Amino acid sequence: MTTVALDFAPYVAPVAKPSTGPSRIACRVCGSTQMLSYLNLGKQPHANARQTLDGPLVSSTPLRVFACMKCQLSQLSVVVPPNELYGTYSYRSGVSAGWRAHCASLAKQYGGAGKLALDIASNDGTLVRAMRASGATAVGVEPSRSFEDCDYDRISRYWSAALVEEFPNLLGAVDVLTAQNVLGHVADVHDFMRGVALSLKQDGVAIIEVPYVCDMLRALSFDTVYHEHLSYWSVTALRELCNAHQMVLSDVQPLKLHGGSLRAVVRKSGDVAPSVARYLATEARDLRKGSYLRFSERVSQHMLALNDTLRDLVPYVGFGAAAKTTVMLHCLDVRAYPKVVYDDNLHKHGFAIPGTRVPILLASPGEFDVLTQPIVIFAWNHADEIIAKLRGWGYRGDIFVPALEPYWDTLEDA
Ligand code: TMP
Ligand code: ZN
Repeated sequence: MTTVALDFAPYVAPVAKPSTGPSRIACRVCGSTQMLSYLNLGKQPHANARQTLDGPLVSSTPLRVFACMKCQLSQLSVVVPPNELYGTYSYRSGVSAGWRAHCASLAKQYGGAGKLALDIASNDGTLVRAMRASGATAVGVEPSRSFEDCDYDRISRYWSAALVEEFPNLLGAVDVLTAQNVLGHVADVHDFMRGVALSLKQDGVAIIEVPYVCDMLRALSFDTVYHEHLSYWSVTALRELCNAHQMVLSDVQPLKLHGGSLRAVVRKSGDVAPSVARYLATEARDLRKGSYLRFSERVSQHMLALNDTLRDLVPYVGFGAAAKTTVMLHCLDVRAYPKVVYDDNLHKHGFAIPGTRVPILLASPGEFDVLTQPIVIFAWNHADEIIAKLRGWGYRGDIFVPALEPYWDTLEDA
């Protein structure tokens, strides 16, 4: 038998090739063409695509981020048609207990009897159910066919101004409109906001939650960059968008979600909290060309270090088949890949991480007390919850969390 030596190329971290100046792309908020290209993650598959274990590998599209030098909206250069991304969609927000608690507290604060609550991109209905539990009449808007088994009232369409005009019951009728992690997924943000303005009551409130670009730069969360996320919001850009539709960005609060997010409180009129001016001043100081370029240099260094660490851990298993897991694996060398990635989402079980042959398996308690290999938590934003669960299941091995400051959880430390 002849042994064939496989000649692997050395690992090279995807490098940002910065370029600045007028671009072919116009900012989707302010229309400026003064764009800085600062992160290039190469070609990547759609991060939540359904990858079968032995079928063809799903297709890839360039993944490159530009920052608008006028309103500081970071944005992708390529828009993948929404039906390719959302026609079927395996992500279920309610899998995370942290997320369920977040929705419950939002509903407690803004819901209540007699109110009409509308949740855009309602996914598996976690927030709609929480709003209903608060006494509100709650409706979701969700285009994906993947949530047919979820029991809540919804309009099965993409959100748009035209949709509001089609449903007279929504026109000027909504007390609380919620849009969690959806504005960043939308190409025509002006149409989205027109719809918000049309549907809100005069004294209604829109709660818009988005990942925050400054947190991405600070926390080095390059793995939150994927095709679904068309925009990475600054408060400067959010305010510009609200103003364009005669809406008031009345408050901005930090959220510890997805590596760092913002809750924007938007109304038709009223006072503006001091937090807004504070954010604007910080962004005017911190969001400059040099900050973006330093970020991409740090991303490359981080990937190199991570690649070395993970290669040394092979064979290891991953936990959390999140979209960010797809991104991270595609920034790594295949020799640093996990054997398998566990996830609690039944709908991912039996598939593979998109664009790879790494299988996704449903995590079941009985396996972890006998597992000796290290576990890497790719869904690092849920690390505390997942570590507690794994230890509760009797897992005694070492756990590695590949966050900005990677860390280990070992039983000796406990
Ligand atoms: P997300 O960061 O986009 O919310 O994705 C988190 C992924 O991690 C998602 O696929 C669900 C998975 N997960 C578990 O499997 N078990 C858990 O306990 C938690 C918190 C997340
Ligand atoms: Zn802009």
